Amino acid sequence: MTEIRRLGGRIGAEITGADPNALPFDELNGLLLEHKALVFRGAHLDDDAQLRFAARFGALTRAHPTVPPVEGRPDILPVNGEEGIRSNVWHTDVTFVRTPPAVSTLRALVVPAYGGNTLIANSAAAYRDLPDPLREFADRLWAVHTNDYDYALPRTNADKAAEYREVFTARRYETAHPVVRVHPETGERGLFIGGFAQKLVGLSGTESRDVLRLLQKYVTRPENLLRVVWNVGDVVVFDNRITQHYAPDDYGDQPRELRRVTVAGDVPAGVTGEESYIVSGDDAAHYTPLAVAS
Ligand code: SIN
Repeated sequence: MTEIRRLGGRIGAEITGADPNALPFDELNGLLLEHKALVFRGAHLDDDAQLRFAARFGALTRAHPTVPPVEGRPDILPVNGEEGIRSNVWHTDVTFVRTPPAVSTLRALVVPAYGGNTLIANSAAAYRDLPDPLREFADRLWAVHTNDYDYALPRTNADKAAEYREVFTARRYETAHPVVRVHPETGERGLFIGGFAQKLVGLSGTESRDVLRLLQKYVTRPENLLRVVWNVGDVVVFDNRITQHYAPDDYGDQPRELRRVTVAGDVPAGVTGEESYIVSGDDAAHYTPLAVAS
């Protein structure tokens, strides 16, 4: 029997006893829009089933603009937590391109005995938490997002991190997005920043860092977070348009393997309807279908 249980006051629901591919799409999408992140326990999807699941939300992206996919699976990104390349920076997936993924799916193949969770934050709740003057200020800001920065913190294996950074930045992207994005399906406003947002348009580097740090603190308030404690076979889907996530680097040298499949997104728009634009780099057409960008 399918059971749906809220996991937090502001984000997350857990679904047990359901095949993610069998839930009617309207119900599935409604749950995702409401809870922003869904955890399907014991779903045990294989690669093909994860691809089918993600494709229910729309056309798929390739695995990543620069990072190689799982062999023979161009749309699946391996997330294998090698030391030095763990995603322990708050981010929204691939915001350095003009049309970042709308939806991200992850499934767990190998999980450590402890640690290795994924934290997911509700950035719409963060926006609502802002005091009025800060909200009005944020509404007018634009941020330049780039892949050309130290995405994963090289705490343990600096050589591996340097190698990964070279791959990650093999093509360089800079895109300006509104700091407050209006969700294309719900109209909700959310803070659209995260680790790839490195500079605010019209502000100095120091001013940008200070303002981004201030706004980011609202995103990562404990009230706005879901902590996913993985079991092998779990599948998580989150709305990449209105969340950020973070993978704590707290599991030492234990193996951890997830696979990620993402759904192509539209061009983000801010509160005035103005759309994101490329600052430098290409349109990432090799990665994400251009059709959604028109
Ligand atoms: C990701 O950033 O997509 C990976 C998240 C994780 O490793 O839990």
